[in-house]
Amino acid sequence: MEVVILETENDVATWAADRISDLLVQKPDATLGLATGNTPLALYRRLSDRFAKGLVSFKNVKTFNLDEYIGIEEGNHQSYRTYMRKEFFGKVDIPLENTHLPYCSATDNPREVGSAYEHDIETAGGIDLQLFGIGANGHIGFNEPTSSFGSRTRVKTLTKRTISENSRLFSPEEFQPHLAMTMGIATILDSRRVWLMATGQHKAEAVGQAIEGPISSMVPASALQLHESATVIVDRSAASKLKHIDYYNWAVQEKTKLARKFDTFP
Ligand code: PGA
Repeated sequence: MEVVILETENDVATWAADRISDLLVQKPDATLGLATGNTPLALYRRLSDRFAKGLVSFKNVKTFNLDEYIGIEEGNHQSYRTYMRKEFFGKVDIPLENTHLPYCSATDNPREVGSAYEHDIETAGGIDLQLFGIGANGHIGFNEPTSSFGSRTRVKTLTKRTISENSRLFSPEEFQPHLAMTMGIATILDSRRVWLMATGQHKAEAVGQAIEGPISSMVPASALQLHESATVIVDRSAASKLKHIDYYNWAVQEKTKLARKFDTFP
């Protein structure tokens, strides 16, 4: 695992935008695994700005989002499909038919939706790079604590803590879903690279447990320790509970020298 510690949230977004732009130069038809929430917003803004300047194109890119709420329509302003259109898809040249979220309507069978999503990812050739944030309880996607490391796209019940953390985004009279379809942990671990992005002091405890704690389904993000190409990109606040910061910084310097030498995507 590589741990990249940067000063600010903006630096995290720029770091990620630089690498995604490089990846798209090397592989213009890459398949990206995307996330919603606060964490990737600055990254989406940077990528949209670069597109507007003609520096990057998404026209051959395919995307698979981690999760989608159950119980609200795709067109609802609270759906993750709407978030993605507003924050990213609508601002770049990606064809909407190349974008996927695990939407399960009221008449769909969730098991079938889950298997079809897994099938679509496989048919697309797998995910080249999967991005995600981390919940304060260590969740990734909506894989809440106790999620199996063997899990695939399926329905998860959100914890009361997650519901309460997300309640700020819903008005009091609005329906807030308690269920979601989410890629499983095994789905995420199948991606060729995985990036965990975290910013802010409120993520420090979860980041510390995920990186330096034991591998445990109680901290779903600790599954990253099993991945051969996992990168954690954090700002100083989110890194504040890590014990081995000197080593992480040194390792990044050494690896960057090596990447320059071989001209590879670090
Ligand atoms: P956030 O959420 O990016 O809004 O902090 C991350 C998550 O809960 O997975």
